[in-house]
Amino acid sequence: MEKELVVVGIETTAHTFGVSVLRGRQVLSNEKKVFTTEEGGMIPSKVADHHVEACDKIFGLALEKAGVSVGDISLIAFSNSPGIGHSLRIGAVFARSIALLLDKPLIPVNHCIAHLEIGRLLTNAEDPVLLYASGANTQVIAFESGKYRVFGETLDIGIGNFLDSFGRALGLGFPAGPRIEELARNGKNLISLPYTVKGMDVSFGGLLTNLKSKIKSGEYSKEDLCYSVQEHVFAMLVEVTERALAHTGKKEVVLGGGVACNKRLQEMSRIMCEERDAKSFCPENQFLVDNAAMIAWTGYLKYSAGDKGLLKDTGIDPYERTDDVEILYR
Ligand code: ATP
Ligand code: FE2
Repeated sequence: MEKELVVVGIETTAHTFGVSVLRGRQVLSNEKKVFTTEEGGMIPSKVADHHVEACDKIFGLALEKAGVSVGDISLIAFSNSPGIGHSLRIGAVFARSIALLLDKPLIPVNHCIAHLEIGRLLTNAEDPVLLYASGANTQVIAFESGKYRVFGETLDIGIGNFLDSFGRALGLGFPAGPRIEELARNGKNLISLPYTVKGMDVSFGGLLTNLKSKIKSGEYSKEDLCYSVQEHVFAMLVEVTERALAHTGKKEVVLGGGVACNKRLQEMSRIMCEERDAKSFCPENQFLVDNAAMIAWTGYLKYSAGDKGLLKDTGIDPYERTDDVEILYR
């Protein structure tokens, strides 16, 4: 039997510095350190400092947990796009250093596509529509005519950033998503809110303004607000996902991104799928949020399809579009 490749994945598109080790299809370790701040948001240079600080420790930890040594590494993959330039650069330099030192191939990976590929690996989905709902990203992605294409997306802020801003206005702290989910369970009254689906796209900006004035009025309980927000925004996401299923004729949905940790979103996707004879899949939380296992796995797929992993092809691209990426392994 052919020896399975040992692949190291490195994720650094935003606030997460992650390293994962895979042996073939098996995830041996999936470590990370996440930049956090009490207030002030993400200052790119501070996030870069955090990643510089974290890189060797997280790398060491990932190898140790996987029970492999540097000499066992066959291949390195890193997230080269899209994301915050400062963060991407640290990942690129770190990944290149290891590749040079070990003289191993280095594969650049698109972060959004990696969310979909890890879903395919860990669930039984073969050719799904991905609902990618994270902090900065909200996209509905599926494979068609040789590429991953974006069928719908947010026209302004990402759903997670929307939830966090709404949560800040309610005084819930950061990240607000999990607290909103908790409070929503005790909501009783559905407040009517703006519902913005434009064709295949969604938007949250107007809703956020509307909510801020509702919070100010003091007329509504936190529980009812959280409950109503979830019902509205998740219905928007699920509606657009259903349209993508109808358009492509696909029968599977995979969830990705930190907001997909939300049980109500998972339930709504499941119900929609059951109603149209499709199936909704959801990997466990550590593979929904930004993680390096998805980068390692997608790197492995690309390498298996003939990507040579030459250093000269590993520049970063903060603005790469999902449908700019050539897919040779499907
Ligand atoms: P990106 O992947 O776009 O770079 P990110 O790194 O900010 O963005 P993730 O780590 O995937 O995104 O997700 C973080 C977001 O998920 C935060 O906005 C957080 O509030 C939200 N979130 C986490 N858990 C839940 C939950 N249970 N319900 C709703 N939202 C949640
Ligand atoms: Fe992500």
